[in-house]
Amino acid sequence: MPEIAYVNGEFLPLERATVHVEDRGFQFADGVYEVVRTYGGKPFATDEHVARLFRSLDAIELKIPVAADRIKSLIEDGIHRAGFTEAVVYLQITRGRAPRHRGMPRDAEPTVVMTVRELPPRAARLREDGIAVITVPEFRWTRCDVKSIALLPSVLAYHAAKKERAGDAVFVEADGSVNESTAGNVFLVTRSRVRTPPTSTRILAGVTRDKILVAARQAGLETVEERITKTDLYAAEEMFLTSTTTEIMPVVAVDGKPIGAGKAGPVSARIYDQFARAFVRV
Ligand code: PDD
Repeated sequence: MPEIAYVNGEFLPLERATVHVEDRGFQFADGVYEVVRTYGGKPFATDEHVARLFRSLDAIELKIPVAADRIKSLIEDGIHRAGFTEAVVYLQITRGRAPRHRGMPRDAEPTVVMTVRELPPRAARLREDGIAVITVPEFRWTRCDVKSIALLPSVLAYHAAKKERAGDAVFVEADGSVNESTAGNVFLVTRSRVRTPPTSTRILAGVTRDKILVAARQAGLETVEERITKTDLYAAEEMFLTSTTTEIMPVVAVDGKPIGAGKAGPVSARIYDQFARAFVRV
């Protein structure tokens, strides 16, 4: 099966897909993106992803001459053409091609790029083993609610985690407030309460985050959206990260300190089971 790409109206093999060197995405990271996955070959929560894409576009004042429905059918078309059992769709929209200048070009056509790759089934072991994370000072911009393609801070923070043999990094403000990981939302379980930071401009409002909150309540747990501090992380009984591709990723250690029993916890597993029952149709 081919990995495919879409560039401004044309589907083509991934290795042949290119954009211009003066694309503003390349030169200024002047663009936004979404990542959508399939379950049973069908795109998951496309309405939510497309709505967030348009919120991101609005936030950077990028108007595109394409309606939400057209974006939805583009995603479906890409998944259908690629034909993988399960796929991950990356969709990026930039302010287009123009001579390099920070001023927004008047007449540039937005560049719409999509790639469809195979999403290999995740080893159940990964979910059982969990990962260790490190905390890093928050050094991203103050509009993390916008899914911007400017991800250098996340690249550097993830690299810092890898250098310490950890699986990911969590951004923490100077006052101790925990925001999110480099590509996922943070959840804690403390005395059967499921806690996650409230949505704000400091985090991305994860589509998975919302579903997990619903699943946790369906599983009979209390959910609270409230400020979480670094001290709360260390004291948590369980911790996990959520995102489209990883769903729930248990965290078993933070900054070298074990979380709870130092292994993936039973409440996280219960929430995952309910998430799969409620939302995953395969
Ligand atoms: N990342 N926070 C950040 C900073 C993210 O990059 C992501 C998603 C999330 C979770 O959002 P969602 O549940 O809607 O996927 C939270 C995607 C998957 C990525 O960049 O690959």
